[in-house]
Amino acid sequence: MAVQALGYVGIGTTKLDDWSAFATAQLGMQQVDRGPSCRAFRMDDRRQRLIVDGALGDAERYFGWEVADAAALDALAAKLEAGGVAVRREPAARADQRFVGELISFRDHAGNRLEAFHSPLVADTPFRPGRNISGFRTGVMGMGHAVLMVEDFDGVLAFYQNLLGFRISDYIRTPVTACFLHVNPRHHSLALFKHSHVGMHHLMMEMYTLDDIGQGYDLARAVEDRVAVTLGRHPNDYMTSFYTRTPSNFLVEQGWGAREIDDATWQPQEMTTIASFWGHEGLIRSVVGNAAPPHPPAPPPEGRRAPLQVMEGNYQKLSGVCPWWDTTTAAG
Ligand SMILES: [Fe+2]
Repeated sequence: MAVQALGYVGIGTTKLDDWSAFATAQLGMQQVDRGPSCRAFRMDDRRQRLIVDGALGDAERYFGWEVADAAALDALAAKLEAGGVAVRREPAARADQRFVGELISFRDHAGNRLEAFHSPLVADTPFRPGRNISGFRTGVMGMGHAVLMVEDFDGVLAFYQNLLGFRISDYIRTPVTACFLHVNPRHHSLALFKHSHVGMHHLMMEMYTLDDIGQGYDLARAVEDRVAVTLGRHPNDYMTSFYTRTPSNFLVEQGWGAREIDDATWQPQEMTTIASFWGHEGLIRSVVGNAAPPHPPAPPPEGRRAPLQVMEGNYQKLSGVCPWWDTTTAAG
């Protein structure tokens, strides 16, 4: 698969100072200086993951998709051009600006600026988070996921599937039309929602511990109108998360405990609801507006739950068991 991960995201904004405060104190990123009209933020060992640029308009954004090496980048460029997509080989100065070895740029079927790159530069100083968090879950899974609203849903989906090699994780046809796509074990690095109001709905960043999220939630609730979607757990990627408004016109989801996908066994699934296991009040309203059904939704009779998705270092297995639980887990 050519594209391996969402490597970085750039956004245009006039609110540089607001973004600095939000990205460090709320999200826990580390700010690095990039001159008077641009700020960049680290999440890990990379030189930058999020770039906010005062020289770009508010609606301008770019998404940096990572490939393995120069050969993979050439192959991707050739595939795009064969598919009728105009591809620009960006000059070395642009690669330096992005802190990558080489990049190409092109537009997706909806007109979003995409960049594909290889050989990202690693910082020579350790990551220092903007607030006290355990860290961001990145690595082979990239910086997180982006959710885009698009009008020509089928055309944009075909673009990402056929030209960039994205694979379907799951999808829903009613009451909304959406598709969740993966390029690595992260359940989705991109999701598309069919919508007349085009743009980015949210950007997601995942942390290592539930307490990072809970503390972020406390911080967000202390600021009027910052929380857009309450704490809750998604039924498809199992993420426990909340969403905040940002200085721009999209949301940021801060989450913990998402499942991984194994391509060898994964079968795309049709979802019948985007309602969460619990919580996430405001999510459906943020997608469909005031036509959203009342919250909380009526629970289905079969119940809704899934095991926590944990990793070494962020859990301890309990020793206590009882016959009732033994029977329940044995049946599952
Ligand atoms: Fe999300």
